[in-house]
Amino acid sequence: MSNVRTVLLLGAGGREHALAWKMAQSASLDNVYAMPGNDGMAALAKVTCLAGDPADTNTVLAAIEKTGAGLVVIGPEKPLDAGVVDALEARQIPVMGPRRAAAQLESSKIFAKEFMTSVGIPTAGYAVCDSHAAALEALKGWNVDGEGVVIKADGLAAGKGVVVTHDRAEAERTAYDFMVNPDCSVKSSRLLLEKKLKGKEVSAFALCDGETFVTLGFVCDYKRVRDGDEGPNTGGMGGYAPQDWPSPAARQFVQDHIFRAVVDGMKKRGQPFRGVLFAGLMIDGEDVNVIEFNTRFGDPETQILMPLLEADVLPLFLQAATGTLALAAPVHLKNTAAVHVVMASEGYPETLGTGMTLGQGIDLPEALLQQGGNDNGFLFIMGAKKSADGWTNAGGRVLGITALGDTIDAARQKAYDTIGRIRFKGAHWRRDIGR
Ligand code: AMP
Ligand code: GLY
Repeated sequence: MSNVRTVLLLGAGGREHALAWKMAQSASLDNVYAMPGNDGMAALAKVTCLAGDPADTNTVLAAIEKTGAGLVVIGPEKPLDAGVVDALEARQIPVMGPRRAAAQLESSKIFAKEFMTSVGIPTAGYAVCDSHAAALEALKGWNVDGEGVVIKADGLAAGKGVVVTHDRAEAERTAYDFMVNPDCSVKSSRLLLEKKLKGKEVSAFALCDGETFVTLGFVCDYKRVRDGDEGPNTGGMGGYAPQDWPSPAARQFVQDHIFRAVVDGMKKRGQPFRGVLFAGLMIDGEDVNVIEFNTRFGDPETQILMPLLEADVLPLFLQAATGTLALAAPVHLKNTAAVHVVMASEGYPETLGTGMTLGQGIDLPEALLQQGGNDNGFLFIMGAKKSADGWTNAGGRVLGITALGDTIDAARQKAYDTIGRIRFKGAHWRRDIGR
């Protein structure tokens, strides 16, 4: 059904590298233009990078005009929050992503909580506080020792706006930091207090078209920087696709009571949800709760999902963009284990944007890039550049390797074998992914 021959992909990371790689395999597609893209995906046949800010509507419109793209696929959250989808839809340009109002499921944690409560999606009990005084008052009446308390800043905070506190003093200090402290990088005029959930975390992904959805799959990621879940939060240091978990009943629950409830509930509000719905879940036995929604693919979760997807993604993305997903066949993942390991720069994440050791030469297996994957794995570039002198690191998370195998152990072994062949000064990575 797809008659789109040219796609414009917005974003620059490993997620976008994986999306470009997967879309480029579609026989019906001639070109993927990526804005700004990265030097990893530029090594793929069919892929061309274009300079430009993907969150600037006029720049995106000019790129569509220039390339003749028949579909726009959005990687990161910024263009969604900037209203790029609204502007494209107003011009009848097919775009795979939610409008700004629907993207509030990610951009406002309070919007998401109130929505979940209104449509009966299970989530942790919470309170919304509009001032520091209100937050202290709410904490006073909170059973901190019994229920625990998680403090969240409203708005996009690049992963730094959440603290799972250990005691009352830490909770009070966090409320002060987020709402008052001028030295804190997170600033929020509204806070969310949440009960602490217990269980195991997993992320579930669905593609939605405003009316219906298809489930893509489940992925576990590793947010903390060091082995054993020690150290500060990151954007994600790796992950795997769990095979024997969540249970069939829990997976069914996610479809029937989470994805279905979001699509129906957002449609009813007049804010139909089109694009990728990424539900961060806490599962305890058969008890499923939503921790958060994102309104885009995950990074690095996408680097695990794309190599596992059997189907051509291009028709699916077009169906999501044009409200015709009801025509799609159910999506199956390969019956294979997948493990993904991220290599990061020295100083990440503590010195993100300030003191990281960048510009170090990277010795990497080029062949993995050109073929976009072989038996040893798939190499996805996150924050690295190529010049005449070779590759250098240019961001906190530099690259990731995905390996497939019959078992998680086999996939993990392969991923770490390939990681062992890549070197740059200060490189660090977790050694316990998929264990
Ligand atoms: P979020 O940005 O909302 O995904 O939160 C970041 C991380 O904090 C999550 O991945 C969880 O590990 C943890 N977290 C957030 N909310 C809760 C909660 N209510 N209970 C337990 N852990 C939580
Ligand atoms: N890996 C988590 C995210 O993309 O938000």
